[in-house]
Amino acid sequence: MPQPLPRIAVLASGRGSNLQAVLDAIAAGTLAGEVVGVFSDKPGAAALQRVTPALRWSAAARGYPSREAFDAELADAVAAVRPDWVLCAGYLRILGDAFVARFRGRTLNIHPSLLPKYRGLHTHARAIESGDAEHGASVHFVIPELDAGAVVAQAVVPVNAGDTPESLAERVLGVEHPLLLAVMRLAVSGRLAEHGATVQVDGHPLFTPLRLDFAGRLSDPASGVAA
Ligand code: GRF
Repeated sequence: MPQPLPRIAVLASGRGSNLQAVLDAIAAGTLAGEVVGVFSDKPGAAALQRVTPALRWSAAARGYPSREAFDAELADAVAAVRPDWVLCAGYLRILGDAFVARFRGRTLNIHPSLLPKYRGLHTHARAIESGDAEHGASVHFVIPELDAGAVVAQAVVPVNAGDTPESLAERVLGVEHPLLLAVMRLAVSGRLAEHGATVQVDGHPLFTPLRLDFAGRLSDPASGVAA
């Protein structure tokens, strides 16, 4: 009997280019998984249109009496698709503690900065204002504290003279997609785990986040060994 494909639930609030990268990789046979639902706090999000209606769930948070009430309904909807992995890809709402606890150890987020630098919003403008020479993106496990979970992997881009937040965001987005896919490949192949505040790959703790190289491969920057 063929193994069932790992089930991926995606949370997205906006355009959904990271979701599209996942869908394209699955279609191309380079990511062994299945997107089993796309969930949004923005019923008008373009991300939702990237999958068939049967896979869409959305609700406007303002229609709920509390943050907890919205989160509980979202969590039930996500649980109903029985995900192996929950992927936050441009999901702009903070996930409550109950949601995080329910899917702990299998929820990943892609964030456009070299964490721990610049948690939260406006990361590109903040990197430029700080005069950073490098910026990038991180994929990390989700914990209750915003953008503070253990970092699995990062991709680095230069900050060029004359960069605007928009030009820098575009450069970062170009590495976000291969970064996300490389991490998702580790995840769906059962090689990735969260142990407390530490990432484990193949059962070994990771002391520094993996780095994406120009060929789209991940390696340990300390040893140079490919993941
Ligand atoms: C990306 O930059 C992601 O890192 C951030 O939000 C943006 C989402 O882009 N969390 P998209 O919706 O995947 O195109």
